[in-house]
Amino acid sequence: MCGIVGYVGSQSALDVVMAGLKRLEYRGYDSAGVAVLADGGLAAAKKAGKLVNLEKELVDRPLPSGPTGIGHTRWATHGGPTDANAHPHLDNAGRVSVVHNGIIENFAALRAELEERGHTLASETDTEVVAHLLAEEFSATADLAEAMRLVCRRLEGAFTLVAVHADEPDVVVGARRNSPLVVGVGEGEAFLASDVAAFIAHTRSAIELGQDQVVELRRDGVTVTGFDGRPADVRSYHVDWDASAAEKGGYDYFMLKEIAEQPKAVADTLLGRIDAAGSLSLDEVRIPTAELREVDKVVIVACGTAFHAGLIAKYAIEHWTRIPCEVELASEFRYRDPILDSRSLVIAISQSGETMDTLMALRHAREQGSKVLAICNTNGSTIPRESDAVLYTHAGPEVAVASTKAFLTQLVACYLVALYLGQVRGTKWGDEISAVIRDLSHISGEVERVLETMEPVRALARSLADKNTVLFLGRHVGYPVALEGALKLKELAYMHAEGFAAGELKHGPIALIEEDLPVVVVVPSPRGRSVLHDKIVSNIQEIRARGARTIVIAEEGDETVVPYADHLIRIPATPTLLQPLVATVPLQVFACELATARGNEVDQPRNLAKSVTVE
Ligand code: F6R
Repeated sequence: MCGIVGYVGSQSALDVVMAGLKRLEYRGYDSAGVAVLADGGLAAAKKAGKLVNLEKELVDRPLPSGPTGIGHTRWATHGGPTDANAHPHLDNAGRVSVVHNGIIENFAALRAELEERGHTLASETDTEVVAHLLAEEFSATADLAEAMRLVCRRLEGAFTLVAVHADEPDVVVGARRNSPLVVGVGEGEAFLASDVAAFIAHTRSAIELGQDQVVELRRDGVTVTGFDGRPADVRSYHVDWDASAAEKGGYDYFMLKEIAEQPKAVADTLLGRIDAAGSLSLDEVRIPTAELREVDKVVIVACGTAFHAGLIAKYAIEHWTRIPCEVELASEFRYRDPILDSRSLVIAISQSGETMDTLMALRHAREQGSKVLAICNTNGSTIPRESDAVLYTHAGPEVAVASTKAFLTQLVACYLVALYLGQVRGTKWGDEISAVIRDLSHISGEVERVLETMEPVRALARSLADKNTVLFLGRHVGYPVALEGALKLKELAYMHAEGFAAGELKHGPIALIEEDLPVVVVVPSPRGRSVLHDKIVSNIQEIRARGARTIVIAEEGDETVVPYADHLIRIPATPTLLQPLVATVPLQVFACELATARGNEVDQPRNLAKSVTVE
C-alpha cells in the first residue's frame, strides 16, 4: 500500500524515481508525486489519479534536473485522492519534503500542536505533520537523519517515511516501522523503495531494514541506526530475479503474464524439495523436528486469496497428518482470544510478506508461545523476518493486484508443509500419499496443459459480459476454489459473485437461482471419493432444473457431467487434494477476460492495492 522511492547518485533523480514509481504503481494508484533537490532548492509536483497524470503534469511544468529525489504513489487512507492530499508533503518554507506509507495514529494531536506553534497545514493527510516536525527538528540539529530519529520517536502507528532537505542536497533519509522499506546499493548511487522492483534495473544488491530503523543514503554509502541513534546490524542480500521479471514481456497485462508463468512458478517452488525417492527435504523450515513432532494443532492465518490457500491446506494437513487444523482470517484472529500454546504451529501465508492483518496475527501467536512458520513470496519482508521459520514460494515478483501465480505456489508450499509434517512425525506413507508425491512432482506440466486449452473459457467469459451475477459452487477442496473464483471475479470484473459449498445450496442460496444465471461448478474427481462427485452431480441437476446456466469444471474423461453441463471446461485428472492447482486456472482466465470485456483495468482494479499494510 503506497509505493515509495528515494534516490541519490549521478543520474537524473527525476528519471530514476519516475521509473521506480512505474514499477510500484501496483501498490496504490490514487495519486502520485515527486520532489527533487536542485539548484539549492526543492521542487515538487504531484497529481491525483494514476501516474500518467503526473507524467503529463511534468511535461506541462517540467522540474529542474538534480541528483537527489523522492517519489510516491498513493493508496489513500487519511484524506481523499486529491492533488492537495497527494505526496510529497512539504513544510511551510518548502525546504523539506516527505513521502509516507502507513498510518500515523497520533497525527491529530501532532497537527493541533503544530498549528498552535503557527504552522499552516495544507492537506487532510496524517503525513503532512511529519514534514513540519522534520523542519523544526532540522533547524535545531542541521542533520536530517537525526531530525528523522527525533520525529520517529514521537510517532505512533505504522510508517515508512522517506525525506529530503534542501540544505542537505546529497542525502536521502528513510525510516521504517512495520511498513516495508528496502535499500538498494549501486556504484556511486543508492536507492530506497517499498519493493526492490523499483531499483532492480540499477542494482541487485539490497539491504533489509529492520523495525524502528533510520537509514541515511549518500552516494558513497549507507548508514543505518535505530530510532535511538545506535548503529544497527543490517542484512545485505542479492536479489535473485532480474529486471525482466517485473516487465510485461509482450503481454497486455501483468495478470496474463503471471497466469502464464504458473507452470514455472509451481516447478520452481517444488525444485529441490522432493527427492527422487519421494522424500521431502525442507531444510529451511528451521523449527526443530522434535518440536514439530509435538505439535498438536495447526492454525493457519492469512487474508484474501492466501486465506483460500489456507482453507485448502486444512484438508491436506488433516488428511495426511491427522493433526487438527484451523484456518482463520488474519484480521479476525487476535481479536477473539484464540487458544494457542507452545504446541500450536501457526502458519502465516502471505505473498507480499507485509500484510498488516497477517503480521499482527503472527505477533499475537508468538506472544502466546506458538511457533510461526511463514509461507511467503517476498525475500526479506516483515512476515518471514518475524517468524520462527519461512518456506519461500518461488513465484517471482507478482505485480498484478489480483493474485494468481502466488496462489498456486502457496498451495504447493502448503502441500509440502503437510507432507513434511507427516514425514517428521513418522506417518506411514500408503499408496495414496506416494501417488500424491509423485503427481505433485509433475503437476506443473498439468498446469501447462490447462493453459493450452483456455480459448473456449475466454469466449465464454466474453459472452457473459453483460451479466450481473455469477455463482460458484464446490465441495471439499473445490469449495475454497469456488471462493477464489468468486473473489477473482469481484475484484476484477466488479460483478456480484459468490462462492458456496455445494451442499449448503439447499439451505438458502438456491433461492438465488433464476433463469440463465451463470453458475460455475467445480466437480471433484469421480475416482477416489466418488461419493463427493455423485453428490455434486446431483447439485448440478438441482440448479439446472431451476434454470441456471451451468458452467462445469470437470476432469477429463468424466462423462457423467456431460448431460448437465451447458458449458464444460476440462481439467487434467489429479489426486483430489491436488485438484485446486488445475481447477483454479480456468477461473483466473475467466475473471481476467470478463474484466477486459467489461472495460476494466485488469492489473489495477478500482479501490484496491497489492500490499495491504494497514489493518
Ligand atoms: C486477491 C488478492 C488479495 C491478497 C491478500 C493477501 O487477488 O491478491 O486477496 O491475497 O491481500 O495478500 P498477501 O498474500 O500479500 O498477504
